[in-house]
Amino acid sequence: MQKKWWHEKVAYQIYPKSFYDSNGDGIGDLRGIIRKLPYLRELGVDIVWISPCYCSPLADEGYDISDYYNIDPRFGTMDDMDELIAEAKKYDIGIVMDLVVNHCSDEHEWFRKACEDPDGEYGKFFYIEDMKDGKVPCNWRSHFGGSVWEPLPGHPDKCYMHLFHKKQPDLNWENPKLREELYKMINWWLDKGIAGFRLDAIINIKKALPYKDYPVDRPDGMSKAQNMIADAVGLGDFLREMRDRCFRVYDAFTVGEVFDEDPSELVNFIGDDGYFSSMYDFSSNVWGQSDKGWYDCKPITPNAYRDCIFAAQKRSEGVGFYSNIIENHDEPRGVSRYIPEGDVNDTSKKALATVMFMLKGLPFIYQGQEIGMENMKFRSIDEVDDISTIDQYQVSLDAGLPEDEALKSISLFSRDNARTPFQWNAEVNAGFTTGTPWLRVNPNYTDINLESQQNDPDSVFQFYRKLIALRKDPQYKDVIIYGVTAPFQPERDNLIAFTRKTDAQTLLIAVNFQNAPQTVKLDVPYKKVLLNNLSELDGTGAEFTLGGYQAVVLEL
Ligand code: GLC
Ligand code: CA
Repeated sequence: MQKKWWHEKVAYQIYPKSFYDSNGDGIGDLRGIIRKLPYLRELGVDIVWISPCYCSPLADEGYDISDYYNIDPRFGTMDDMDELIAEAKKYDIGIVMDLVVNHCSDEHEWFRKACEDPDGEYGKFFYIEDMKDGKVPCNWRSHFGGSVWEPLPGHPDKCYMHLFHKKQPDLNWENPKLREELYKMINWWLDKGIAGFRLDAIINIKKALPYKDYPVDRPDGMSKAQNMIADAVGLGDFLREMRDRCFRVYDAFTVGEVFDEDPSELVNFIGDDGYFSSMYDFSSNVWGQSDKGWYDCKPITPNAYRDCIFAAQKRSEGVGFYSNIIENHDEPRGVSRYIPEGDVNDTSKKALATVMFMLKGLPFIYQGQEIGMENMKFRSIDEVDDISTIDQYQVSLDAGLPEDEALKSISLFSRDNARTPFQWNAEVNAGFTTGTPWLRVNPNYTDINLESQQNDPDSVFQFYRKLIALRKDPQYKDVIIYGVTAPFQPERDNLIAFTRKTDAQTLLIAVNFQNAPQTVKLDVPYKKVLLNNLSELDGTGAEFTLGGYQAVVLEL
């Protein structure tokens, strides 16, 4: 595997609306990010991915872009953006923008023009079809529920496709003119000096054409869009073209949001000659999913989590670098998902962090993860902003769940869990804003906040700093970044243990994912404890006992 400039980096995702509000309007903004750059440096991150802050009606919180070349006034101005890029550079931090090109907003000029003249140039930027006898072309269900087809405004005999929300019309990648427009925009951003892009929903850009119905999978008579995506051929041609025309030219870092990839295709995505630098490993996020909806999803167990990450490590070994996460703006908080209920505490949070950080791949921290932020307790559906959660609530009700059960079902998976404002301190609104926050602050901010953790050497935050420092330690970084991963005693319950090995060094990461202690025997005594989430390690070098949720990194 060729070495790349970004292999050694630690990345951090900012959801700008909820990070830090600099002007008291209740909405996080770019000046807020600029102000917190010293904080990001203190933590030790090198790459910052910012979720969309372009002009947008915010129907899907910025993933519906109405102008790719401007910043939404709620987030700031292009001058703020330029300043952020320049300031970040001074801290040795690269800015990664979100590239949302499967769709734009229905308020984008292109779509407006398409509605004015569906047969004209801009009509061809979208998927616009005639209704036949009042019927839409096919039975695909959008990712956010309902048909992917929506009547075209002003043209009741026509409809347009949206794989996501109806305010997110899909862009027609089959049209070379559209692709040229997108490449121009991407390069315009790269010229500004950003480090790269996170590629949103990117596998959706290739549709299986001509339209046809897929097997019905819910009482609504439709078929999930994933069935069509799995059937589409030729995605690679688009991705290769975009890479060669844009990313390669700038040696930019790219990370793809890819679901349901075929393991044999991994090399095409992230191999030395892959479409992207990296892509997220979502295997533990999708574990236990159900076609019926969130209410039917199974919560993951420590053993299942371990099996997911080991399988991903095996798949990617010698192929490329996954990006490892425990959460993002679309997922519940990792500590609430992967740690069994009742066991969530600082020790178990550090244990989970140890697993994530010591895997091969690029660690992506999602804002607030580094202080152990937890899921929200929603009191009613009225507290939810996210369109996908609102859709899933309805899916639960339609399945016959009473309201309180429906609320419970969405609470486990709601995207708003991770979107509540960052908890800076114990003051009003967790120090996020002096105004009224756009989304309710998690009331646990008096216990869980950055300021108290900065002053506590044993905090989750300080532990994240140690993990990052270990990854960058000249003595160990080679084995942590490039070492081969091998499972260690994977048959044992609730033990997540693995080695990382180069010719010169071997590390053992051993994490006891339960409250009861577990004893581990080695063939030879370990040499050194590099990291421990408790103050002691019981036993001798060749046989030691891990306490509840104890996590250690040992040099063998
Ligand atoms: C991606 C984003 C998500 C968004 C969707 C549509 O999955 O992460 O937040 O809703 O794409 O753009
Ligand atoms: Ca603001």
